[in-house]
Amino acid sequence: MNLFDVYPLWDIEPVKAEGCYVYDENGTKYLDLYGGHAVISVGHAHPYYVRKITEQLSKIAFYSNLVVNSLQKELAEKLGKLSGYEDYFLFLINTGAEANENAIKLASFHNGRQKVVAFKKAFHGRTSVAVGVTDVPAYKAPVNEGQDVVFLPLNDLNLVEETLNKGDISSVIIEGIQGIGGIQVPDPEFLKALSRICKKTGTVLILDEIQSGYGRSGKFFAHQYAGIRPDIITVAKGMGNGFPIAGVMISPDFKAVHGQLGTTFGGNHLACAAAIAVLDIMKDENLIDHAAKIGDYLMSELKKIPQIKEVRGHGLMIGLEFEQSIKEMRSRLLFEEKVFTGVTGAYVFRLLPPLCLSMQEAEEFLKRFEKVLS
Ligand SMILES: Cc1ncc(COP(=O)(O)O)c(C=O)c1O
Repeated sequence: MNLFDVYPLWDIEPVKAEGCYVYDENGTKYLDLYGGHAVISVGHAHPYYVRKITEQLSKIAFYSNLVVNSLQKELAEKLGKLSGYEDYFLFLINTGAEANENAIKLASFHNGRQKVVAFKKAFHGRTSVAVGVTDVPAYKAPVNEGQDVVFLPLNDLNLVEETLNKGDISSVIIEGIQGIGGIQVPDPEFLKALSRICKKTGTVLILDEIQSGYGRSGKFFAHQYAGIRPDIITVAKGMGNGFPIAGVMISPDFKAVHGQLGTTFGGNHLACAAAIAVLDIMKDENLIDHAAKIGDYLMSELKKIPQIKEVRGHGLMIGLEFEQSIKEMRSRLLFEEKVFTGVTGAYVFRLLPPLCLSMQEAEEFLKRFEKVLS
């Protein structure tokens, strides 16, 4: 059997990784400014993370969600504390798309409405409801066309108000910072007003923090820059530092009903051990403040580079927009300068390194980046 060819592949195979570096089979060392697509939060192969998962594996890796698993409680408590949402509930699944799928469903169970508002250029995942609220036509099959969704321009308060005032919107889903849309930061005043209008109209506000959450923005959640408290928050990516785990954080106003949501693998012992280790490390190593500090430094240096049209983002979620295609530049960065970066579209680099990126590694990146610009 061959693999189904849906990914354009770089001809590189990482076989080992440590901290902010990955190594291929020839021992070539790459600086990781991509974090495996914003997934690596506490760094590759962190010894504490490896130890906690290994210990858990030799005890029990999985059992059904129909018996007690106190690791889930420990995870919920630690996540509530570190994120500032101690009074919220946690539902555990495996991927970001599943988190959004369940969040939108839960909102609809809660207020009995059907229609969803999402934003232009949004990405929320590939499963049916999640891809339905994703603004990328190429990702949708005819079977996804039935979803009742309205896409509004980001930051257009008048249109949001007009749409929500009709009183038939179940939920609004918005990314803390748009990732695939090109690192677009919603205006904090827009988020505040959106939160207020959602409350007034009984619309559930869902913050997709799958890419922008878990410390990446320099706060636990990017929406915390606006000082709002959404009804539902979705998390994944950095939560397990590479181990598949995701969560739906749910306001205390929601009532849990047996059977409404469910999953076989979500919240299994091994995934919880990984996610607990991530939170322990983030707290012990003060990685959120660290991401803010290194991110500020990187952004201020990048803003001095005249070839870059615009630098956007917060913390270690940085977008660099160019006037011309960056295809060649990215390829040179990878193959000549040995630096992994992300991109979105033809003009925007996405920097999404592990949150433990040191000042020295940030400087190393800037040096190598300037080489491909000259
Ligand atoms: C903002 C956002 N939401 C949802 C998803 C989907 O997550 P997953 O690929 O784990 O299903 C992603 C993935 O890139 C994302 O960036």
